[in-house]
Parts: sequence; structure tokens; C-alpha cells
Amino acid sequence: MKRITYISRPCQAMSDSDVQAISTYCYEKNREQQVTGVLLFFCGLFFQTIEGSEEKINLLFAKIRQDKRHRDVLCLKMESGNIVRMFPDWSMKYINLDTGVEDLNRPVRVLLQSIIESHQIIGRYTQPAVLHIINQGLNPLNIPPRKVERVILFADLVNFSLASEILEVEETADMLNRFLEITSKIISDLGGEVTKFIGDCVMAYFSPEQADNALRACLLIIQALRQQREKAGASSPMRFLRCGFGLAQGMVIEGNMGSQVKTDYTIIGDAVNTAARLESMTREVGKPIVLCEKIRQSFGEDWKLVSVGRLQLKGKEKAIEVFYPQHELIDDFAEAINPRISQIIAD
Ligand SMILES: Cc1cc2nc3c(=O)[nH]c(=O)nc-3n(C[C@H](O)[C@H](O)[C@H](O)COP(=O)(O)O)c2cc1C
Repeated sequence: MKRITYISRPCQAMSDSDVQAISTYCYEKNREQQVTGVLLFFCGLFFQTIEGSEEKINLLFAKIRQDKRHRDVLCLKMESGNIVRMFPDWSMKYINLDTGVEDLNRPVRVLLQSIIESHQIIGRYTQPAVLHIINQGLNPLNIPPRKVERVILFADLVNFSLASEILEVEETADMLNRFLEITSKIISDLGGEVTKFIGDCVMAYFSPEQADNALRACLLIIQALRQQREKAGASSPMRFLRCGFGLAQGMVIEGNMGSQVKTDYTIIGDAVNTAARLESMTREVGKPIVLCEKIRQSFGEDWKLVSVGRLQLKGKEKAIEVFYPQHELIDDFAEAINPRISQIIAD
């Protein structure tokens, strides 16, 4: 037996009779499938609980998630195993809490409103990968760790320490938040997973099939940060928005890492350290993107890559061949970084 409770948002404004029509259809279908539950409509949102055999609920929830009549389907709770039906007599009971006037509806409305608000807050603090797992009706805590190949991206603000010394606290926070907003949006839009913010550094990963998107994300971030700098005034904190990237590929362990107090769904492994080290090499190489040999084999597109030679990364036994992409957006790094290093590069 399995039970899933979710909320979602209709794609278009819906009248009571529109929702009534959906529920009538559900009622018939659910009766055939021995699925029971309740569909609430409140404040322009659907709240639904569906329960039945594990196989039928998985199938139905997959269909419901794909249904174009609603979006932002967010699984609130998933129960399975030895559970009893909560709504054994309702093939799909429809209740419109907006039009219901009974006294009892009021506390239910208050409760649902607070669930919506707390989920919106928690959603912002939760990793997209974890939300994705929850939205498939699965419990992320039950997912065992696995070994997978990933392209790892590290993006780090250049001169952040200097900026935070010069800027006011609020300016520093504004600048950092703008950086994190821009990077996470671009990475997520291209199918990457932002797994951690480590101070002024963003750690993300892509599947090897998305290697081109990983590099594309770096280029789009460079472009977006350049636009921010160009429109920033001489005293704006946004003039500090400039970043270096390290891209590496390798086998990592993906899964839950943490304690009872805090758990991250993240990746660990040698390739993660390599990406971080490559990012710090950007200063020496004088280019904003530095990547390793392995990722070259995953590229489907014909990127122009320039070899910097075999470099010894800190903490690594073997030297690895390191590259930077030749691209119109890759030109203005040396002047931005520590002048001592740009001097070294000029030599
Ligand atoms: C808010 C909402 C709730 C739904 N609930 C159910 C449901 O309980 N049972 C069901 O069979 N379909 C439900 N649907 C419809 C499914 O998304 C999907 O259209 C339907 O299962 C298609 O069935 P078919 O592929 O067998 O024709 C719901 C759709 C929406 C938008």
C-alpha cells in the first residue's frame, strides 16, 4: 500500500466546475483501480492525497506529474508499507475550501496556508536534487549511495576577500547573493545540479552526457557577470563580479552524507578535489576556465581547447594535462586578478 500527498498549481485559472470535472473523471478511473483519496482546491492550489497499491500509485503519480493542467507539483508526504487507507470510502472526494463556509473549514484553511508557506521557505533551502527525488514520490533518505561518473564544476569569485574588506557588510552580501543567483540559475537551466555553496564558491555537477552544457554554463556565467560589471556604477559592489571555473570529470560517490543534525545529498571523490584545484589554477593560467583532459572526451561539440601543459595539482601525485577553452568571452581575466600574478603571466 502507498499514499502520496502533494500540492500543485493549476496552469490556468480554474472555476469550481473545472475542478469538479477533473474530480468526476478521477472518481471513475480511481474506482476501477481501487485508488482512494481526496482532492482539495484552495487559494488557487490543488492538494491531493492518493492511496492504493504501490504499483498503481507510482503509475498514477507519474501521470499526474505530467498532466499539463497543473505545474509545480510538490510531494509533501510519501508513505508506504504496512499502512491502512485513510479514505477507504472515497474514490476521489472533491472539496472546494474556497467556497465552503462550514466552520470546520477555517482551521483547515489556516493549516494549509502555513504548509504552503513553510514549503516555500524549505524549498529555497533544499537542494534541487533532493526536491526532485521527493517529487518522484521517493524518500531521499532511503536512497543508498552509488558510484557514478560526473562532470564537476567549481565556480569561485575572484578577489572576494579583497572585496569584502573594501565593501560594507550589506554590499558584500548583495554582491555574493547576485553571484550565487546568476550561477545557480544558469547551471540549473542547463540541467546541472547545484550541490553546495561554500562561501563564495559554487559546487555543481552534470552528467558526462551534459559535458558541453557544463562548459556552456561557465561561458554564460562569464557573460552574465560581465554584463553586471558593465552596468554597475564606479562605486557599485557589482563591479567585483568576476569568477574562475574548474571543470573535472571522474567517478564519484553520490548520496546522502551527513549526520542526524544535517544531511547533504552530494558527491565526494577525487574528481571533486581535482575540480577545486583546477579552479584555483585559473589564477596561474590567467584564464577564467581551466579543465582537465578527461572531460575533453565527453564533449560532443567542437570546442577549441588550448593545452597549458602537464601541471602538478596540489595534493596530486601525477601531473595532469590542463586546458582552457579559446572563446571570445575568454579574454579579460589576467587584468582582474592579483597584479603580481598577471606580471608573472606577462613574463
Ligand atoms: C489535480 C489533478 C488531479 C488528478 N487526479 C487524478 C486521480 O486521482 N486519478 C486519475 O486517474 N487521474 C487523475 N488526474 C488525471 C491524470 O493526470 C491523467 O490525466 C489521467 O490519469 C490520464 O489517464 P489515462 O492515461 O489512463 O487516460 C488528475 C489530474 C489533475 C490535474
